[in-house]
Amino acid sequence: MSTSKHLIAPSVLAADFANLAKDIQMVNESEADWFHIDIMDGVFVPNISFGFPVMSAIAKYAQKPLDVHLMIVDPDRYLKTCKDNGAEVITVHYEACTHLHRTLAAIKELGCKAGVALNPHTSVQLLKDVIHDIDLVCLMSVNPGFGGQKFIEHTYAKVRELRALASGVNDGLLIEIDGGVTTTNAAQLLQAGADVLVAGSFVFNAADPIETVKALKEIDPF
Ligand code: DX5
Ligand code: ZN
Repeated sequence: MSTSKHLIAPSVLAADFANLAKDIQMVNESEADWFHIDIMDGVFVPNISFGFPVMSAIAKYAQKPLDVHLMIVDPDRYLKTCKDNGAEVITVHYEACTHLHRTLAAIKELGCKAGVALNPHTSVQLLKDVIHDIDLVCLMSVNPGFGGQKFIEHTYAKVRELRALASGVNDGLLIEIDGGVTTTNAAQLLQAGADVLVAGSFVFNAADPIETVKALKEIDPF
């Protein structure tokens, strides 16, 4: 058994959509902690993934919490739908929310954990006045929209800066890293202060996905 405290969230975006039940079962049987669910609208990001009917089908088989990453404009319209389709964590993009404080309150009102995702160009300092209201910050380590992209190295500095920003104000804040995560960068991300590692292609394209999740879970940065 692993003694690590960090969480692993395989991104279903990289699963085999024609054999979704099989891939969900794989995650159920693995040491993964959450399912990461990427919802895209073709407007906020230049891609469309899948929507709530698919998410609801995933929820039926998933035996672990659904961590929903909304890459959509005006996410307030869909928060309740998200909750009704099985979300436990709902993450909206900073860049997509005019009234972020209100949106976070609405997510919590539904009984979900409230997350904010930051694009690679967005400074963590912009969260200063709302940091105490956030359960999770998802730092995008690629430009959102596609799986299988190259990890952006500047992410390490952002993790450290965010951990410092939250220190003493929100020590329970979960820092999630999304994009290009592998066993090559995981230890350094955890050392910098990350708590949740999302991994799509690295897990689902692996010869042995269960072992790959285990390898990520068992990384001991210290
Ligand atoms: C990107 C998505 C990610 C993506 C990660 O827009 O938010 O969750 O699935 O995929 P990998 O791990 O392949 O970079
Ligand atoms: Zn994501």
